[in-house]
Amino acid sequence: KTITFITSDNDIIETQANFGSLMELAVKNKVKGIDGDCGGVCSCATCHVHVNQEFWNAVGGPSELESDMLEFDDNVSDYSRLSCQLKVSQVPDGLILKVAK
Ligand code: FES
Repeated sequence: KTITFITSDNDIIETQANFGSLMELAVKNKVKGIDGDCGGVCSCATCHVHVNQEFWNAVGGPSELESDMLEFDDNVSDYSRLSCQLKVSQVPDGLILKVAK
């Protein structure tokens, strides 16, 4: 699958993967702004992304634990997700994500 990250500097980083989490994918590709400090256990919000609106329904909303975590983030939007909670295998090909500030 092709997954595209857009950083807060508007750099466009196109990545390819078939498994793993989107946070791991972003870290591997050195996407600026995705740190994954907690290692993907939904407790740091340094992997916050805004899902491109077009893909929101296909991706779906956050779990309760994830929403609780997102509440601590000032830049939360209606399309916010924590990328460590998204699996490459479960998201649509061609997905576009904007890295949250
Ligand atoms: Fe920490 Fe996603 S990596 S919440």
